[in-house]
Amino acid sequence: MPAQKTLFKAKQKNNTFKIESRRYIGSKAKLSDWIMYLINSEIQEKKSFADIFAGTASVTNSALNHFETVITNDFLHSNNVIYKAFFENSEWNKQKLLEIIENFNHLESKIIGNNYFSENFGNKYFHKNTAKKIGHIRNEIENLKIELTDKEYNILLGSLLYTIDRVANTVGHYDAYFKKEIQERKLELKLIEPIRTDKVSIFQQDANQLVRKIKTDVVYIDPPYNSRQYSRFYHLLETLVKWDKPKLYGVALKPEPENVSEYCKVSAKNVFKDLVNNINAKHIVVSYNNTYNPKSNSSKNKISLEQIETILNKRGKTKVFENSHRFFNAGNTEFNNHKELLFITKLDD
Ligand SMILES: C[S@@+](CC[C@H](N)C(=O)[O-])C[C@H]1O[C@@H](n2cnc3c(N)ncnc32)[C@H](O)[C@@H]1O
Repeated sequence: MPAQKTLFKAKQKNNTFKIESRRYIGSKAKLSDWIMYLINSEIQEKKSFADIFAGTASVTNSALNHFETVITNDFLHSNNVIYKAFFENSEWNKQKLLEIIENFNHLESKIIGNNYFSENFGNKYFHKNTAKKIGHIRNEIENLKIELTDKEYNILLGSLLYTIDRVANTVGHYDAYFKKEIQERKLELKLIEPIRTDKVSIFQQDANQLVRKIKTDVVYIDPPYNSRQYSRFYHLLETLVKWDKPKLYGVALKPEPENVSEYCKVSAKNVFKDLVNNINAKHIVVSYNNTYNPKSNSSKNKISLEQIETILNKRGKTKVFENSHRFFNAGNTEFNNHKELLFITKLDD
């Protein structure tokens, strides 16, 4: 291919966000090939797959290459919007959305007034001017809603979520922000790159409730591993998506708790047992890692690997596979010999 054409292609590629272009604790983006390789080697029945703690949906996305139908689920509002933006098989007009974001990208912060987002998060999670633009764009997306299809609305919101991740004054989540002076960074909205598929069913439910209603060949389980609540770490994305402008509390400016996961509490073992016992599938696949003895308490695993294996073994013969993986680390915890594990259980008839 001539050099100029290659360059153009590369530029075009950079103009959209792919599903895995997200900072997210516990994302399996770098492990999904390994996970699918093991699933393919170990499992024959491969019609339907359920990713019930889907997070970034990186595993859902890989499963699309191997299964006829895929269920994707997570209880966070922001993840649900992202799944609809990427996977929902419905009408949208790219040119129309490009024109809308082109206007957003020419906004001048000087002529935008303060808004809920800038008043709360300005000069904290974002530079004041950037926060003004984000709040203004969020309002505009709501105002445009009647002219947009659901898919277009979700693509705009999803694109906003992916874009702000690039300019946030954080390590990648919203449990805290850097306290030093913030440099203003250009807020340049890019569209997410939706995936053409009619295979995905999207849910936003508690995983333990969902498994009672579905039946698939494979259920993939990737719960939170420790006391870090996803709804608290990504509260700002939840607030931006819901846009119900809640009262916020504390230095980290979090709303009242919602979607608090039992998997982050001492009850984790019992909810995991309940989950596994209520799965209607041929195989259960579980991701987990061996950070059972880290220095910081919040990184400590809530369920031990032995407990997981015992619970899974009650449903059928379980094999364990391992891979080393650089774990999310905000700098205050050392993980030696960190290993990512995959359990594959063939359920007894
Ligand atoms: C380890 S992450 C999953 C990461 C995902 N596999 C990926 O590749 O990005 C766990 C996810 O479970 C979700 N979650 C926690 N408790 C849940 C529950 N009870 N029901 C549904 N989702 C839950 C969290 O919001 C989080 O996104």
